Amino acid sequence: MASRMNPNHQYRAYLNIAVKAARSAGRLIVRNFENADTVQVSEKNKDDLVTNIDRECQSTIADTILHFYPKDRITGEENSVNAESTDAEREWIVDPIDGTTNFVKGIPHVAVSIGVKYKGETVAGCVYDPILDELFTAEKGSGAQLNDRKIHVSNRQSLNGTIIAVSYPHRKRQYLDEYRAMMNRAFDKCADLRRMGTASLDLAYVAAGRLDGYFEACLYPWDFAAGELMVREAGGFVTDFSGKNDAYYENGSIVCGSPHVHRALLECIRPDLKDFMSKLEEEREAKSK
Ligand code: IPD
Ligand code: CA
Ligand code: CA
Repeated sequence: MASRMNPNHQYRAYLNIAVKAARSAGRLIVRNFENADTVQVSEKNKDDLVTNIDRECQSTIADTILHFYPKDRITGEENSVNAESTDAEREWIVDPIDGTTNFVKGIPHVAVSIGVKYKGETVAGCVYDPILDELFTAEKGSGAQLNDRKIHVSNRQSLNGTIIAVSYPHRKRQYLDEYRAMMNRAFDKCADLRRMGTASLDLAYVAAGRLDGYFEACLYPWDFAAGELMVREAGGFVTDFSGKNDAYYENGSIVCGSPHVHRALLECIRPDLKDFMSKLEEEREAKSK
């Protein structure tokens, strides 16, 4: 049915399902944010928390998607469905709670992130902040919105006066030296840095012009699948640390902002890029052994 539709209608239909799923997970998040004592927290890996609510949100989201498209692939942080399916045209990339540490600590800055790929290309995505009831959405070719109002990246021409989101590689501290050097260079030129703790909202905020740029490494597709489309649809540039489009799906490093800010951030990254990338490569080789 869907393949005969005008692509924009098709993407809108996917987006509507993503939004429905994100809102139902959002209700769970809000309810449990207010009853934090009952949330069960455990550590997946060192400094990597997961709660029963992350898992409940993941399954609520999957149920909603599978109700409409039972054969689709869902790649989620907490669970994947039809992972082996080769005939699924769509893949839904889901972070059921982005900012789990914020959630556990009672810091009201969390989101549900759902990106939709069609034939390998991201065509729709939503990032929903249930605490503020802010819904960021994007559809390929139709721009990006916050609560249905069009959004755009800021129009800064350089790093002067900008607010840039960054993060510490807290789970991969072997990258810390290069990371600090990159952040120091950015800090020297911008007005200030932010480490907010929710990658999908960092991207959504760049799309909305609240932040002027953002860079982070060691991310997973569910952290950025929706947000990177949003930034591009809002007029920004998104690449990996070496400036390649889409390579963030391979190496998890992302840098974005308005075209000028994006270029300036790449310049802050470049002096440490070689060391950084060779560490990434070593890590990848070690994993494949
Ligand atoms: C994390 C957040 C955080 C980022 C981490 C992510 P999680 O996701 O997005 O901002 O710095 O790299 O893993 O674990 O809260 O879903
Ligand atoms: Ca995440
Ligand atoms: Ca998560």
